[in-house]
Amino acid sequence: MSASSDLFRLDSRVAIVTGASRGIGYAIANGLAAAGAQVTGLGRSVLAKSEASSFDYSICDVTNAASFKDLVERVFSQFGRIDILVNAAGITLPPQTEEDQMAAFHQTLACNLTAVFDCCLTAIPFMRRGGYGSIINVTSIGAALGFPGNPGYVASKGGLAALTRALALDHGTQGIRVNSLVPGYIRTAMTQASHADPERREARAARTMLARWGEPEELAGAAIFLASPASSYVTGSDLYIDGGWAAKGL
Ligand SMILES: NC(=O)c1ccc[n+]([C@@H]2O[C@H](COP(=O)([O-])OP(=O)(O)OC[C@H]3O[C@@H](n4cnc5c(N)ncnc54)[C@H](OP(=O)(O)O)[C@@H]3O)[C@@H](O)[C@H]2O)c1
Repeated sequence: MSASSDLFRLDSRVAIVTGASRGIGYAIANGLAAAGAQVTGLGRSVLAKSEASSFDYSICDVTNAASFKDLVERVFSQFGRIDILVNAAGITLPPQTEEDQMAAFHQTLACNLTAVFDCCLTAIPFMRRGGYGSIINVTSIGAALGFPGNPGYVASKGGLAALTRALALDHGTQGIRVNSLVPGYIRTAMTQASHADPERREARAARTMLARWGEPEELAGAAIFLASPASSYVTGSDLYIDGGWAAKGL
């Protein structure tokens, strides 16, 4: 066991963060890099704030399995190991019409669930070779609670929470831990519309115990915890970063 000052350090660890072009993935990638990790982030578009980033960045679509495999092999050949995979890439596609329902469902599941499984399957053999693995899946309070008008998103995150537990069991004895990070309402491009609407903004803040929204940077500490030896006996778990939303009664 490391000295307590080293428990949260990620020096010599190599991390890949999907969905790092902005928002939660971007904040987590910067956080892991600040803790000492060599981080490669990815997304489909160019990095929104490249001047403020402390990680390498590549264009990659997680729904393109060959493209993600290429990236993983490139990172491995450059740095000699892969220790941490954060699956933060995600989309929300609330269907606008009855006819939209199935297409939106399939598209959401493809990115938020199927692609995550593929990314895990691709990264796990490399983690096994290095003898250390931490996979962090970004789910949502919607994985456990009902939310209206977006069944594909809710189902994708519920499925991802279940996938976390299944992979944690299948790979635990190989030294690979798999956990979910469970955000409540965080101010990003994804939630811009509800944050911009005063009524919806206030309604969501009022659902939390802290009476406010979260910021993307408030996910970084929990990600460092789950990536580092500080969480060496934590696997198959859901870590809520939701201002107390899911635990609140009245
Ligand atoms: N914000 C919240 O309140 C909240 C709450 C619960 C859970 N979450 C989850 O947190 C994660 C991050 O969301 P966010 O709020 O930061 O949203 P965001 O600002 O919209 O960021 C989403 C990220 O995912 C990337 N992405 C989407 N599809 C991709 C694909 N096919 N391949 C590669 N990258 C892809 C986006 O990059 P490109 O567009 O460049 O590809 C972007 O970097 C998501 O999984 C989301 O479901 C967010």
